[in-house]
Amino acid sequence: MSGPFHGKRILLGVSGSIAAYKAADLASKLTQGGAEVDVLMTHSATRFVTPLTFRSITHRPVLTDLFDPGSPEAIEHVALAQAAHVLVVAPATAHMLAKLALGLADDPISVTALATGAPVLVAPAMDANMWEHPAVRRNVETLIERGAVIVGPGEGRLASGLTGWGRLAETPELLGRIAKTLGANGDLSGRSIVVSAGGTQEPLDPVRVLTNRSSGKMGYAIAEAARDRGADVTLVTASAAVEPPVGVHVERADTAEQMRNAVQEAVCSADALVMAAAVADYRPADPSGEKLKKEAMADLSVALERTDDIIAGVPDGIVKVAFAAESRDLLKNARAKLKGKGVHLVAANDITLPGAGFGADENKVWLVDEGGDTELPLMAKYDVAMAILDRVVALLGTGRPKGR
Ligand code: CTP
Repeated sequence: MSGPFHGKRILLGVSGSIAAYKAADLASKLTQGGAEVDVLMTHSATRFVTPLTFRSITHRPVLTDLFDPGSPEAIEHVALAQAAHVLVVAPATAHMLAKLALGLADDPISVTALATGAPVLVAPAMDANMWEHPAVRRNVETLIERGAVIVGPGEGRLASGLTGWGRLAETPELLGRIAKTLGANGDLSGRSIVVSAGGTQEPLDPVRVLTNRSSGKMGYAIAEAARDRGADVTLVTASAAVEPPVGVHVERADTAEQMRNAVQEAVCSADALVMAAAVADYRPADPSGEKLKKEAMADLSVALERTDDIIAGVPDGIVKVAFAAESRDLLKNARAKLKGKGVHLVAANDITLPGAGFGADENKVWLVDEGGDTELPLMAKYDVAMAILDRVVALLGTGRPKGR
């Protein structure tokens, strides 16, 4: 198993909000991701969800009472706090925010927040009027000043029946922000990485486009992995079948031309560019402003014109990684792209291999650079992304092509 949570020790503080039930899903996803999750609950949280729920999910004891003489965890809570990689308080009620801001310590969560040196991530959940109250705003500011990461709340329907800001952030948002927090001091910390992804769409008329089979999954995995190693990530994305990762800057670029412009702008302040996007090499030369009607023509021929090669046009001075999706002569074509595009690394994949490439969750690539070729096994796109980023880190480390 791999991923940002693997082998991490996560403390999950659950305070007394109706959103406490959502913390069960968060605990489950973190546990499935390979984290050791220790849940801390306030007394009021146990009235919404039982400790047994969390114990069944995490396979770990749940700490509800610091003064329980029968609980070894109660005695060891300071050790727990010191071993943790992150403390996540989700949901955090207005009362819990106040306690954390003031430094009160009368329940397992607030005590642990004082005892831990780990980063603290706080996900508030309350009624919209409470969230807007100056007392709550002040407490949130205090926590931010002290370095806490505040996630959400989101807008939507609240338990009170009102609609407004106060909903606990959704699980994918929380997972992404926890991963980013865990990786903040990684080997790409302080680096700015631009990743392109997805398949461009070149309009034929207002309804139809010329596009390709890219799902965006490989590029999104690279953006996610770079985030999890501490990079500041700009994801320039064309059409994709999946949601972009949380915690990266997303720039939308539908056509090859829009992508060229967005990439050119983004690389000005970047250390590396990874072009995973499937960019159209040709676009309709004269797209119709009106929908093409089939009655109007017997046959249809479309004149196409070349688009610019985006990565080949990026000036030297940053690390450049291209992909090569090939159906034959994989390594020969990849080596030609390495030279022709003036890049440091080509990730080459054979699109005819079953279970790899377009749309799949796994990929099999060869890494081709001036030193030779390395064959990687078929593996999750996140792991392929990590292998590519290992090379990026090494290239940045040599001091060869650094940020401009
Ligand atoms: N690429 C690019 N700009 C383009 C086309 C491709 O920057 N207009 C990038 C892709 O993002 C990828 C690499 O170049 O990183 C190789 O793309 P690929 O489609 O495999 O190769 P092409 O250069 O288009 O060559 P061919 O289609 O002849 O294989």
